[in-house]
Amino acid sequence: MTTTQPGPTEATARAMVAEGKGILAADESNGTMDKRLAPVLDARPTEEDRRAFRELMFTTAGAEGHISGAILYDETIRQSASDGTPFPELLNAQGIIPGIKVDTGAKPLAGSPDEKVTEGLDGLRERLEEYHALGARFAKWRAVIAIGDGLPTSRCIDVNAHALARYAALCQEAGITPIVEPEVLMDGDHTIDTCDDVTQRTLRVVFAALVDQGVALEGIILKPNMVLSGKDCGHQADVQEVAARTLLCLRRVVPPAVPGITFLSGGQSDEDATAHLAAMNAIGGQPWELSFSYGRALQATPLERWRGQSANVAAAQASYLELAQANGAARHGHHQPASEHAVAPAA
Ligand code: 13P
Repeated sequence: MTTTQPGPTEATARAMVAEGKGILAADESNGTMDKRLAPVLDARPTEEDRRAFRELMFTTAGAEGHISGAILYDETIRQSASDGTPFPELLNAQGIIPGIKVDTGAKPLAGSPDEKVTEGLDGLRERLEEYHALGARFAKWRAVIAIGDGLPTSRCIDVNAHALARYAALCQEAGITPIVEPEVLMDGDHTIDTCDDVTQRTLRVVFAALVDQGVALEGIILKPNMVLSGKDCGHQADVQEVAARTLLCLRRVVPPAVPGITFLSGGQSDEDATAHLAAMNAIGGQPWELSFSYGRALQATPLERWRGQSANVAAAQASYLELAQANGAARHGHHQPASEHAVAPAA
């Protein structure tokens, strides 16, 4: 079994988890972004609305002190700011590394209609080459694992792990650092024990597949869920329990060769996502950097403040900066409760 040399992907991975910094996940597909925009706009969202919101985020002065990279969607990586500067160039100028979501979505799994398999391997080598030319230096692929009656099946975990590993190998071949994202969903009334079991089981299979495909673990970033009680579980584990259980779970399955773990927020409130990250970093002593790659937890509040109005841009940017700062501080184990009431994320 030959392992690929990490090449430039290791340096990029380390820069993505640089001290005090994390990643903005601004890679919602057009459909998902429109679902987020629709409630705050009075009209049906357009390409210009999606572009304008991304411009607001990417031109927030000071965010670069806490944000190392931004994940873009295919439409976004080809868009420009109002002054004509392409978004990848705008981000690079601030020292924020442009990244790209390359999966084409989670589709129903044959023979198991309540589970999904993420697609996007066909033509991926060529797409990665194009995205590299457009400025992307890291990529993202999200697999979705649902917990339920008899779920997840081994088949679902296996096919998703295999796809993640083939994606990661192609990324490294292209000099692009893969974010490997197997998300165990928080939907359901399961206990934190079940989330822990399923997360460990999933990550074991994912790492075995990565090794099988010759992926250099020094040149990847893992983006997992935290170990949480199901959203509808009667007993919700508190911050300290979530932090301790998540770290124990990851220590059992994530090799120390992996430079960094950037958590997804997965539908947690802004406050919870930050508090959990701070508590984990306060425990400290882990072999990997522990950081964030939040979508909803960094964007829900700015979106709510903006509401499509240019008069609200400054207020929206201020709320984004505040969230970026708070999560940057959480990387050092500090938690500053939000000064404003957090907006609940959209489902
Ligand atoms: P959330 O933080 O909203 O889960 O988004 C992160 C992400 O990139 C999901 O794929």
